[in-house]
Amino acid sequence: MLQDKTILLGISGGIAAYKSAELARLLVREGCSVQVIMTRSAKKFISPLTMHALTGRPVYSSLFDSGYRTATAHIQTAREPDLVIVAPATANILGKLTAGIADDFLSTVLLAVDLEKCPVILAPSMNTTMLENAAVKGNIFLLGKRGYVIADPNDGDLACGETGKGRMVEPLELLELIKKKLFSEKDYQGVNVLISAGPTREALDPVRFLSNHSSGKMGYALARAARERGANVVLVSGPTALEPPAGIDFRPVVSAREMYAVMMDKLEKADIVVKAAAVADYRPVENFSQKIKKAGEMQVNLVRNPDILKEIGAKKNKQFLVGFAAETEKLLEHARKKMEEKNLDMIVANDLGQKGAGFQVDTNIVRLLYQGGFVEDIPLMTKYHLSHLILDRIKDHRGR
Ligand SMILES: Cc1cc2nc3c(=O)[nH]c(=O)nc-3n(C[C@H](O)[C@H](O)[C@H](O)COP(=O)(O)O)c2cc1C
Repeated sequence: MLQDKTILLGISGGIAAYKSAELARLLVREGCSVQVIMTRSAKKFISPLTMHALTGRPVYSSLFDSGYRTATAHIQTAREPDLVIVAPATANILGKLTAGIADDFLSTVLLAVDLEKCPVILAPSMNTTMLENAAVKGNIFLLGKRGYVIADPNDGDLACGETGKGRMVEPLELLELIKKKLFSEKDYQGVNVLISAGPTREALDPVRFLSNHSSGKMGYALARAARERGANVVLVSGPTALEPPAGIDFRPVVSAREMYAVMMDKLEKADIVVKAAAVADYRPVENFSQKIKKAGEMQVNLVRNPDILKEIGAKKNKQFLVGFAAETEKLLEHARKKMEEKNLDMIVANDLGQKGAGFQVDTNIVRLLYQGGFVEDIPLMTKYHLSHLILDRIKDHRGR
């Protein structure tokens, strides 16, 4: 996908520098040329030889190196890439970039990059207190306002032994961000994508209902990502607290039966269907017209709701069908069964037991299962970046 692209990978002196080797490897695997620049401090953390071997290109580091192709290599290097990423970006390099200081090869090249023509991603990584220092915080804010793309660090265990925000965004997630920045060209232009999101509510009486903890975040993130890539998006959503993305056909519904009706109505036109909604399997047999009054024990009888996914699986012709499985046990087993029973092309399985996965949170950790039994493990990433990754995979597998 990244063939013919040149990426400039700046590495500054933070513990996360070792992850940049993986990022370089992923980029090379995608077919792009990677030119690495390392600061003096970065070379204390990871060997330039490793980066040279991974990228097939010697690493640039010193401003005054007689071995460069031209005396003004810092300018030439700033003109060549399609995208620049600094990962990890130390507090120091962020401070220098904010202040316009150019005292080594990386900081000089960064000032010489024309942001109008070449996106620059900065992936800060540092101890939480450093990150929250007013100067660092202010620098990151200013750089974001000036048009730099900030890969907001994750929460988690830090190398210093503390826990908090400051972990560099994982290489696979950075790769998705790079693709997103490079391909705001519309690879889903003209493609009709039907997405369901959120929970459904099954009324018991005028004030009570049965529902679940789905926040709708995954489905909304998918709708946003697909729209950004040019798709015609229909988002059928149960009740959520989220703002629907701009530029889509938004269809709010409440119950499973309402969702069923709209999904079936929109199915014919869809090229891709992603069912991220957590549809209630059952609804109360009776929906009382008046509020149920307190009295002794009470039993609620339930009846099955229509199985939207199964029905789409049975009816589909051209549509590429993606389902979600949220499980608390036997994740792969249940996901495989669901994939088969519902005639899915791909299933996104998330283990609700894992921290950072599933309902309510902004991140997810999933396994992607494809027809033919292939399973891909995806590490923790934001639902938004995961959405772009899922769209990449759908693109790769559709029409195979
Ligand atoms: C063991 C060790 C780990 C460090 N980790 C980080 C880090 O994760 N983030 C950071 O901003 N600085 C970190 N530093 C401090 C930087 O290396 C230092 O500020 C250096 O001047 C950065 O130079 P550079 O930005 O030119 O690479 C670390 C220093 C040491 C000794």
